[in-house]
Amino acid sequence: MNDRRTQTLAEADSLINDAVNNEVARQSEGLELIASENFVSEAVLEAMGSVFTNKYAEGYPKKRYYGGCEFVDVVEQAAIDRAKHIFGAEHANVQPHSGAQANMAVLLTALEHGDTILGMNLSHGGHLTHGHPLNFSGINYKVADYGVSPETEQIDYDELQRIAENTRPKLIICGASAYPRIIDFARIAEIARSIGARVMADIAHIAGLVAVGLHPSPIEHADFVTTTTHKTLRGPRGGLILCRAADAKEIDKKVFPGVQGGPLVHIIAAKAVAFGEALRDDFKVYQRQVLANAQVLASELQSAGFRIVSGGTDNHLVLVDVFNGGKGITGKVAEKALEAAGITVNKNTIPFDTNSPFVTSGIRLGTPALTTRGMDEAAMREVANLIAAVLHESESEDVRHRTKEAVWELASRFPLYAKRLERGQLERQAVGAD
Ligand SMILES: Cc1ncc(COP(=O)(O)O)c(C=O)c1O
Repeated sequence: MNDRRTQTLAEADSLINDAVNNEVARQSEGLELIASENFVSEAVLEAMGSVFTNKYAEGYPKKRYYGGCEFVDVVEQAAIDRAKHIFGAEHANVQPHSGAQANMAVLLTALEHGDTILGMNLSHGGHLTHGHPLNFSGINYKVADYGVSPETEQIDYDELQRIAENTRPKLIICGASAYPRIIDFARIAEIARSIGARVMADIAHIAGLVAVGLHPSPIEHADFVTTTTHKTLRGPRGGLILCRAADAKEIDKKVFPGVQGGPLVHIIAAKAVAFGEALRDDFKVYQRQVLANAQVLASELQSAGFRIVSGGTDNHLVLVDVFNGGKGITGKVAEKALEAAGITVNKNTIPFDTNSPFVTSGIRLGTPALTTRGMDEAAMREVANLIAAVLHESESEDVRHRTKEAVWELASRFPLYAKRLERGQLERQAVGAD
């Protein structure tokens, strides 16, 4: 027993160790353009892999149901204080295991079963937890939805006002998974006030930009702000809720014991580390580059003949209409072709899509992960050229092959997790796999 406890992962479980090493190589040798992903720092990884994973800590700092929580309290209080500081919030709950659970806790706080919510249509950029029929939000509440205008492909706030007046929701949900434009939180709050509704702003995608003032903050406008911590915010996978002091007690009660049991203390420790990073000056420099890179990516792809949904981007993501009314290829085909060339993206519906969500007319590209590697506008031009080459000749094995080599060369100029990559290679050599 004792021997087993001191074994490294490589010694204890080769199947999982190999998968970890292969994933390090995949992340480092390819181009990661999934808009909801990022690469955390070694410090964040270290906190996630800490012994805090062993600890039960139901409750909140200084009010726990378990003994031995003095150090847990240090990390959770640090995470809370830093989150409040970043966003200028009165209260923060750092325990949600995910963005979905953060949203669930807010809906339980703001609504009674059967109340009406008004969320952004999923195919116009919204998220499952904003009212999809198969999600708890669509199962437990009546759902009305708003979307973008067919002309501008941007949120139609006048239409939103009309829908709100007609459907009288108790909660308006804003924020999105695939919306490349600034969201006018002030306007949405005004609409909500006019019908006596409350507002939840889910800033999962844009939290890093909001943190440094590169996207308007919803804090003073929304009753509840939720986010994931692992996208532009560049922390561990998890959720976060921000609200006013008046709602703090209810929110905390709805997270625990409402929807969760024991908090993931190792993840909360990693959130604290990531929030500390977000408070540093270099995080603002990083976010500026994320924006600049997205703009270059959009304009280069436009120059290469692709239609960019809404004509461009104000944030970290670009939606590309690869189908182009049937003249191009589907999002599904594009995703597969790019994957074969070492470029990871996801197929995505575009507003008023004529293809199903499994096929789609679009792909969604994001710059947070590549920017973390240090890529700048010049690198982004190379990325855009590689993407365009594959999409223009999506059937060509030759193009895929050549692109994959160029991807590898570009990626190697911007090293990622270099020590881990090297260790994995050494371990592979040691077992004769190379
Ligand atoms: C806007 C938005 N909200 C919530 C979530 C859910 O986050 P999680 O996957 O952590 O549950 C996502 C995830 O992509 C999202 O984009």
